[in-house]
Amino acid sequence: MVVPGSQHIEDKMYNPPAELQRDAHVPDFNSYLALYRKSLENPEGFWKEVADEFFWKKPATGPMLQYNFDMTKGNIYVKCMEGAKTNMCYNVLDRNVKERNLGEQVAYYWEGNSPDHHMAITYRQLLSQVCRCANVLKQMGVKKGDRVSIYLPMIPELVYTMLACARIGAVHSIVFAGFSSDSLCERIMDAQSRILVTADGVYRGEKLINLKQITDEALEKCREKASSTVTKCLVVKHHALRAKGGAACNKLQTPWDSECDVWWDEAMRDAPEECEPEWLDAEDPLFILYTSGSTGKPKGVLHTVAGYLLYTSLTFKYVFDHHHDDVYWCTADIGWITGHSYITYGPLANGATSVLFEGIPVHPHVGRFWEIIEKYKVTKFYTAPTAIRLLMKYGREPLQKYDLSSLRILGTVGEPINPEAWHWYYDVVGRGKCPVVDTFWQTETVNVLLCFVLANGKHLATFPFFGVEPTILNEHGEELEGEAEGYLVFRRPWPGIMRTVYRNQERFENTYFRKFPGFYVTGDGCRRDKDGYYWITGRIDDMLNVSGHLMSTAEVEAALTEHSAVAEAAVVSRPHKVKGECLYCFVTLKDHREFTHTLVEELKRLVREKIGPIATPDFIQNAPALPKTRSGKIMRRILRQVARNEKDLGDLSTLADPKVVEILFSQRCEAA
Ligand code: PRX
Repeated sequence: MVVPGSQHIEDKMYNPPAELQRDAHVPDFNSYLALYRKSLENPEGFWKEVADEFFWKKPATGPMLQYNFDMTKGNIYVKCMEGAKTNMCYNVLDRNVKERNLGEQVAYYWEGNSPDHHMAITYRQLLSQVCRCANVLKQMGVKKGDRVSIYLPMIPELVYTMLACARIGAVHSIVFAGFSSDSLCERIMDAQSRILVTADGVYRGEKLINLKQITDEALEKCREKASSTVTKCLVVKHHALRAKGGAACNKLQTPWDSECDVWWDEAMRDAPEECEPEWLDAEDPLFILYTSGSTGKPKGVLHTVAGYLLYTSLTFKYVFDHHHDDVYWCTADIGWITGHSYITYGPLANGATSVLFEGIPVHPHVGRFWEIIEKYKVTKFYTAPTAIRLLMKYGREPLQKYDLSSLRILGTVGEPINPEAWHWYYDVVGRGKCPVVDTFWQTETVNVLLCFVLANGKHLATFPFFGVEPTILNEHGEELEGEAEGYLVFRRPWPGIMRTVYRNQERFENTYFRKFPGFYVTGDGCRRDKDGYYWITGRIDDMLNVSGHLMSTAEVEAALTEHSAVAEAAVVSRPHKVKGECLYCFVTLKDHREFTHTLVEELKRLVREKIGPIATPDFIQNAPALPKTRSGKIMRRILRQVARNEKDLGDLSTLADPKVVEILFSQRCEAA
């Protein structure tokens, strides 16, 4: 969506090519409006039609949606299709193989970190691997409702494991394999997982990562903090078998505990290929996925079976205008919600053929994305602004070597896209022929706002998805009509909205529903223009968005203050050419401690260790004191201005000691 201040140059209509429009599910704006109105006026009928596409072991006895969004009237809840019984895995695999005759269709083209590693997996093969993995998990004692933590890179086993959990009613909790052992430990402990699934190691570009060692460190930390709930660790032999030419080239020492660890290939060898799905209640949990919370402790966002199925399948179909001959590629990692919804569940529910990519955009060369698009004749391509900005740096040349004419629709997600990146995406990657669909959403919501590409549209602004009713409130909670700017909130649920924060309903209600009773509060700012388009203006809380990854200032501050030299820390964002935003940290040292280059390096390392490489600060500044109000609250607005070198500070009357600001400006970091 849009970067504030850029509207004047972007308020322009872009029309999709006529041939795309002709075959589209939503060919024009009036068709969109008709469907949208139906979804709000008759949600029961609208969602029932969507549900009819899927298999229900038992039909619903309750309405399609029941809810309370008003804390003053009782607990917040959302229920979809009460009484129905189904299974997610059955619907995304067995239904495609057995009822839709898609068994021989490719579900995934897996493309490894190295271009030499690739394979095609059909729906039938996927089903068989998933069933075997489900049997392995069952044999390890996993039962319905148990949590399974998954710490895997982008390899087929990641998809097998998550669908195997879905098949037997276990709740998967995937932890992005770039997170540190501390972050993994925290997530295992909160989910109280029984089983951990990981791999020996993985190459990310040229870098070899010993995942098993990180896993062991995490489990050790869990044991130190409490008695660990993990009884077994299932380890995929990925590096040893696939990477760099097989076992002879294995450069890793894989730590091994024969009491707990089990090799994946040994366990899978004799596992049967049949596994009866566990028929679950519509509102049984499907997965937990942790997302940053403004207090620093990650929140376990919980999604449930039926609603998530309906919503991811429908959004996938319409957002990417899916057709059976498409080859779709989402470059996200399954460790994030984008991958859960738009690599695994949404595409499979539609019987799509997707690319599953393990590597990074610049390895072994900066044209890797374009090479893959040509290789698989990708038609729909979904990536993040940060990747576009990274690739823009290398100019047009790397693209010109490849045939990108298969592309029909481009998508972006994760953070506001700046007009320059949008134009490069549209003009250079899409050659002015592919609509760009900008999808705004959150771990909590699944897709909610999107530009209906095949309706005529302003390219950086957007309309709500079916069933979603956004509105804009001012600070006092008053609804703003017409052209307006304020808090983006939602008045009612849709099937795919989160159900709770795992084991913390109170936090769920306080985070999303306390500020404005009756509404789900996104934490994002938004502007509605005179034509009714919504423009996202960015977070209005203490969250940062670095390369499309949301993190809280509190989380990074907590990591910094763990250093023995640091008395206090405050973290703000500063614009960054590739990452969108980067971390600018202010640290106040304890008496007699010196601010040195070594200390800066130590602090950066500490944050990497505590959270993961994505949170590495770009700037760390010495702050003899922090600007505070008389009541002791840190004035982040001022720190942001120091970080950005904006000297027009406005009203400073609440500041306890104005001299602090002068000192901070004099010591600010120019370059990283
Ligand atoms: O601030 C919004 C931003 O990312 C936040 C959600 O982050 P997360 O839960 O990690 O999910 C990311 C993938 C959906 C939002 O609150 N955001 C996401 N997409 C966009 C965006 N901001 C602007 N435009 C977008 N398209």
